[in-house]
Amino acid sequence: MKRVFSGVQPTGNIHIGNYLGALKQFVELQDENDCIYCIVDLHSITLPQEPKILNKNILDVAALYLAVGLDPKKSTIFVQSMVSGHAELAWILMCNSYTGELSRMIQFKQKSRENESAPTGLFTYPILMAADILLYDTDIVPVGSDQKQHIEITRDLAIRVNNKYGETFVVPEGRFLKEGARIMSLDDPTSKMSKSAKNIHSRISLLDDASKIKKSIMKSTTDSEGSIRFDMKEKPGISNLINIYSSFSGLKVEDIEKKYEGYGYGAFKKDLVDIVVEAILPIQERYNEIRESEELIRILNEGAEKAAAISERTMDRVKNKFGLGLAKG
Ligand code: TYM
Repeated sequence: MKRVFSGVQPTGNIHIGNYLGALKQFVELQDENDCIYCIVDLHSITLPQEPKILNKNILDVAALYLAVGLDPKKSTIFVQSMVSGHAELAWILMCNSYTGELSRMIQFKQKSRENESAPTGLFTYPILMAADILLYDTDIVPVGSDQKQHIEITRDLAIRVNNKYGETFVVPEGRFLKEGARIMSLDDPTSKMSKSAKNIHSRISLLDDASKIKKSIMKSTTDSEGSIRFDMKEKPGISNLINIYSSFSGLKVEDIEKKYEGYGYGAFKKDLVDIVVEAILPIQERYNEIRESEELIRILNEGAEKAAAISERTMDRVKNKFGLGLAKG
């Protein structure tokens, strides 16, 4: 059995990009692997958060994990800050990383540009992510393709430590799906769909109602050519919609192009609304059942206990290798 680990930030507005790029893979992997899925609240405080809203968002993401089909009998589900090993290992890894390599991270460059004075945590964000992954001897990390650089630095760190201190970490692999790996914004298809974009119609959140979904899709940016053809370079808007259509319906891109030959964007968009709503409604129904339940808290407490037990074993090994504390030999 392979160990799978991934995480989602509790920053609200979990959208279909998060679902198609990450959550859907989480569910697919849980039958045949040993999966650990985390709600990475320590990552979310790299940017300012309102404590009450953060606390609500943590439970929202946990409920969404279950609503999309994660089964706590198969997967370990927990909140990052409830397991101290993440922050502890991040410090040790930070001492083995270079400011030069962190300065090259695209996400840091983007986010620090948007924020007048960038917190240090935003700079070291990828190290905490590496700690999350390496703490659990992870083989596979299912993520959207926007995380490629973060997976690369995680691998580099694991290899660097292994070379310097002897076999310490498993070197993980990223798992990026072709379809859904990168869902773009509906109003600007040259940038990725994001939780924080100001325009709510740039994304479809998993908790949006049918009329909001309809409005966002019908308003989405396309082009003036009017033919339903996949060409990410010349026709990024309609190509993104085709990608979403394909990911939710399971139809291949070529089959969608054939199906809509001679049709206009309006007809295509209307069908897409139905497909998205049909996929999301059952998720919302399950979410509403779980969100306020005691069961949710019990699952998160049990998940944290299980995760802590695994992480303590790794921390003992790491401290031993580094000669920290009263490490033996
Ligand atoms: P977050 O919360 O920003 O994103 C969660 C997951 O959603 C994917 N994603 C997308 N996929 C396709 N299209 C999009 N437009 C899109 N936007 C987001 C992300 O790739 C991610 O898989 N840094 C991580 C959180 C994290 C993590 C980890 C992941 C922290 N530690 C350890 C894996 C392993 C992130 O971006 O979260």
